[in-house]
Amino acid sequence: MSSEQRQTKVIAVGNQKGGVGKTTNTVHIARALAERGHKTLVWDLDMNSGATKHFGVPLDAFMGTFEVLVGDEEPANVILTGSEEGVSLPENLHLITSRRKLEAIDETLAAKDKFMARSDVLIDPIQQLRGKYDFILLDTAPNATAPTVASYKVADWFVLSAMPDPFAIDGIKDALLDIQAVQRRGNPNLRVLGVVLAAVDERTRLARTLTNYVADAFRLSPDSPESIRFHTIINRSTVIPEAQKLGQTLFEYMPFHKVTDQYRRLAAEVESRTKPTELPMKEVVNG
Ligand SMILES: Nc1ncnc2c1ncn2[C@@H]1O[C@H](COP(=O)(O)OP(=O)(O)OP(=O)(O)O)[C@@H](O)[C@H]1O
Ligand SMILES: [Mg+2]
Repeated sequence: MSSEQRQTKVIAVGNQKGGVGKTTNTVHIARALAERGHKTLVWDLDMNSGATKHFGVPLDAFMGTFEVLVGDEEPANVILTGSEEGVSLPENLHLITSRRKLEAIDETLAAKDKFMARSDVLIDPIQQLRGKYDFILLDTAPNATAPTVASYKVADWFVLSAMPDPFAIDGIKDALLDIQAVQRRGNPNLRVLGVVLAAVDERTRLARTLTNYVADAFRLSPDSPESIRFHTIINRSTVIPEAQKLGQTLFEYMPFHKVTDQYRRLAAEVESRTKPTELPMKEVVNG
């Protein structure tokens, strides 16, 4: 790893509702940021290993999230860079894997250290990685286990994932309440970077309702026409599950597909929304 210091942006991709595109968005935003030349780390924090599988990494072959969270390994020792046997990762993209063993994380942590809050288990590991990557994307699970709450606590930004379904709006409202709770309890710096609407079929009423709701509910200010919904919408396409089955991203499977290009545009939005402002950052001012 180069000694160059990078201004790392840590982005949690979430929504405690299941199956709303968190993993697909994490993997493809990260992949597109890597294509744009950013050194990017995907951290799989879900016991179902969606991101690990998406990159075609053999399950259970490597140490990863579990070992770091219980304090047995430093993150640098479990990061896959693509040079490992049986692993091929895109340029500029590294991965911390997860496996089924993560199911036992909460009990393991409770047994190990009664005084360590489970929501704090990512603070040291992320601190060690700051400066080494441009972006760290945390793929969270659809539950409130230790890795999920810890990622909300440690992230700078939150990308909310949603898909058109009858309960999507409730899911978004719950996710916003979670974010506000985290802002009050320990991570006042957490900011919503945007809402990604994925698997959208614009011909359906459900998709239109959700798109309009999000445009409205997430205005920058009450009378601003601008919403924090990302302008780029990800359409529904069978190429996504096809690529996932092969353990590839769309950038390998269908580099010129419309949805691949949508992820390129989405990543450009992520890049511009996370650009440091001209003003000196608070940490810098405080020395
Ligand atoms: N743009 C898309 N078009 C079609 N299918 C999609 C699209 N995005 C995601 N999917 C499919 O939707 C399902 C859920 O996506 P994904 O696994 O990314 O969601 P998730 O929020 O990470 O789920 P979980 O909560 O289980 O971790 C997957 O089967 C995936 O293939
Ligand atoms: Mg997932």
